[in-house]
Amino acid sequence: MNLNALSYSDLTELRNLAERVARDAGTHVRNLREKGVTVAAAKSSPVDIVTLGDQAAEQIIVAELRDWRHSDAILGEEGTNRAGASGITWILDPIDGTTNYFYNQPNYCVSVAACVADTSYSEGYRAVAGAVYVPTSAELFSAAAGLGAALNGKKLRINEAAPLSESLIATGFGYSAKKRARQAEVLLEVLPRVRDIRRSGSAAYDLCALAAGRLDAYYEAGLKVWDYAAAELIAREAGATVTGAAAAGVISSKPGTPLLIAGPAETVKALQPLLPALK
Ligand code: IPD
Repeated sequence: MNLNALSYSDLTELRNLAERVARDAGTHVRNLREKGVTVAAAKSSPVDIVTLGDQAAEQIIVAELRDWRHSDAILGEEGTNRAGASGITWILDPIDGTTNYFYNQPNYCVSVAACVADTSYSEGYRAVAGAVYVPTSAELFSAAAGLGAALNGKKLRINEAAPLSESLIATGFGYSAKKRARQAEVLLEVLPRVRDIRRSGSAAYDLCALAAGRLDAYYEAGLKVWDYAAAELIAREAGATVTGAAAAGVISSKPGTPLLIAGPAETVKALQPLLPALK
């Protein structure tokens, strides 16, 4: 399956379904949050937690997708890995910003992306439709390939490129102490050169905020495919260039896990030499 095989109505159908399941799951996790949060497990490190909300949201999304799209594959942060025959893979982050959710900070969201195989991305998937729902603000960001990006139905456009020194840049940090130490070293190079730095705690929210002009650019090394799948499409459809590391002597120049940079083309070009990918 590739993008060209999908018609306008296929793309809008996938986007509408992504919107619906993201909103359903997001409403549920917000209701659960009001009753309190239970940590279900720690994952890659003691600071990388999963709550009952993450698990419940993934179950809701998977059940709805199976009802509507039974021959699609599904890959979810909380362990879903279901094969399919249609060429579409749904990539889910049931709560992106789990630490925010745990502390009752508002920046957490549900991310749902319908993807096709694409080797120009480091994880081999590229979203063709997707939605990110922020339940605390009832903001629904969505996009379909070639059809633009919207926030609650209103078309999105990134900010015009500004010099790096006047650009507000978001980033994030991984969960391992070694990666964080390296990310802090990189930040030492970036911070003196930009207007300021933001760390929202949700990569999906950051990419949507970029699409909405709330930031000028975003970068992060060490993301997982579910963190960025839907939101990088939303940023791209709002006019962002999304790429990886600069070409010479790099781990990968494809956008994705080693490094993802998004923003106006000129800003991305100015940031790239400052940003190494993470092993
Ligand atoms: C995390 C968030 C965070 C980013 C981390 C991600 P999670 O996802 O997106 O902003 O900096 O790299 O792992 O664990 O909350 O789903």
